[in-house]
Amino acid sequence: MSDAALFTLDGEDVPFEPGETILQAARRAGRYIPHLCWHPEFAPHGSCRICTVKVDGRMGAACTVRAASGLDVQSATEELNAQRKTLLQMLFVEGNHFCPSCEKSGNCLLQATAYQMGMEGPHFEELYPDRRVDASHPDMLLDLNRCILCELCVRASREVDGKNVFAIAGHGIAAHLVVDSESGRLVDTGFAATDRAASICPVGVILPKRRGFVIPIGQRRYDEGTAADADRQEAS
Ligand code: SF4
Ligand code: FES
Repeated sequence: MSDAALFTLDGEDVPFEPGETILQAARRAGRYIPHLCWHPEFAPHGSCRICTVKVDGRMGAACTVRAASGLDVQSATEELNAQRKTLLQMLFVEGNHFCPSCEKSGNCLLQATAYQMGMEGPHFEELYPDRRVDASHPDMLLDLNRCILCELCVRASREVDGKNVFAIAGHGIAAHLVVDSESGRLVDTGFAATDRAASICPVGVILPKRRGFVIPIGQRRYDEGTAADADRQEAS
């Protein structure tokens, strides 16, 4: 790495390796940029826009914009965090998220990111969409009420499991997760509890059966620290 391979993030130098995105370089330097659809094991998807930063004054997704020498990147500003909070509020009202009764509470990246961004309420009117719960599979539950359409399960099933169990159908507000079976039921796909896609969901959609609350509330990932703490720990 040459001395020139640096950009600034909120005024501080961040080194980068060739080919790294702003988010990857920031993480490696211990700097948190909020994100939902990005995961270190997969190519960026760039859909949730929670990671949006200002790059030399222009908006860009930190998970897809390549780092380059001399870039001036702004992330932890009031303006950007307010926009992130709005996006999070929209995600909450577009689905049915009842954190106190959700098995994923405390382990949920959406919930943790909302806390991180200081979200105290949904702000917008709840849409209460009619979404399915698919309990057909013997080992796994699919609660579509909580889906944020990040496509991590789609990518994991396709790229790691080689199965293509999941896909997103429809557009805009009608977009929804579907599974690869004529019946539309998870049990009729090739899905298995050992698939990578079975443990990738950042929210509480894809859950193992018979393991509810094995880890007590208060001892879960984001009970121990914030989304930023967990992200820094994971990246180190
Ligand atoms: Fe993302 Fe989970 Fe929905 Fe799949 S089920 S798209 S991993 S939120
Ligand atoms: Fe970058 Fe979702 S994390 S767009």
